[in-house]
Amino acid sequence: MTEARDPVKRVTIRDILRMKREGRKLVVVTAYDVLFAKIVDSADVDIVLVGDSLGNVVAGFDTTLPVTLEQMIYHGQAVRRGVKRSLLVVDMPFLSYQASEELAVLNAGRVLQKTEADAVKLEGGSEELVKTVRRLTTIGIPIMAHLGFTPQSVRTIGMRLQGRERTDADRMVENAQALEDAGAFSLVLELIPSELAQRITDAVTIPTIGIGAGAHCDGQVLVLPDLLGLNEGFSPKFLKKYANLAEDVRDAVRRYGDDVRSGEYPDAEHSN
Ligand code: KIV
Repeated sequence: MTEARDPVKRVTIRDILRMKREGRKLVVVTAYDVLFAKIVDSADVDIVLVGDSLGNVVAGFDTTLPVTLEQMIYHGQAVRRGVKRSLLVVDMPFLSYQASEELAVLNAGRVLQKTEADAVKLEGGSEELVKTVRRLTTIGIPIMAHLGFTPQSVRTIGMRLQGRERTDADRMVENAQALEDAGAFSLVLELIPSELAQRITDAVTIPTIGIGAGAHCDGQVLVLPDLLGLNEGFSPKFLKKYANLAEDVRDAVRRYGDDVRSGEYPDAEHSN
């Protein structure tokens, strides 16, 4: 008889909601490939997000606008192969959900089917978007919402702190409540004043996950290459770099190059 092994206890949406009720902070990080997915999954992360920020940090575009649904599915599948424990969320890219509710249903459903993600993320809080979120959650597609600086709208809103004006801030609080009412299970708040993030966090029962939104959110998300110090030259105020991997990689590759040129590699130990 073979001994039964403990199955991995996977993080669920219920766990995420419970964490807010219990006042436990949520740890969220992005990943785009299987190697980093395995590492972050084994580092006690609650949610792994396959962000469309891959347009910036993987593909080198200036914005997330060129990212396609097929690319999100490809990266989502790669990350899925590495994530066994954390909740997995995949971003819906620009134009994959805005044009109509029907399109959003078909594309979000396709992402869930193809990547086996636990949820998808959509940006915005307009009336139309809230209706779309309601439709998606009604048919069983879990939604992470995203307010504040929404990178897919960078051409209209610019890359700057959002919600500074009282009317904008009030609208954002209302949008957050509408998104919760429509069934979203969590809410990313990007680049907004800390006080506004606190207002929103207090106004909803779903967890808020901040990036550049101060300390009052229920959790934090960072883009993995940013926190690892791989994205050289990107140093906004909110970013804390927990490693300097760009320097480590450069140094390792330099030493490899030196060894090849000097004939030190491959030596007997590394030859057949
Ligand atoms: O695309 C992304 O990585 C994101 C996070 C910054 C929240 O949306």
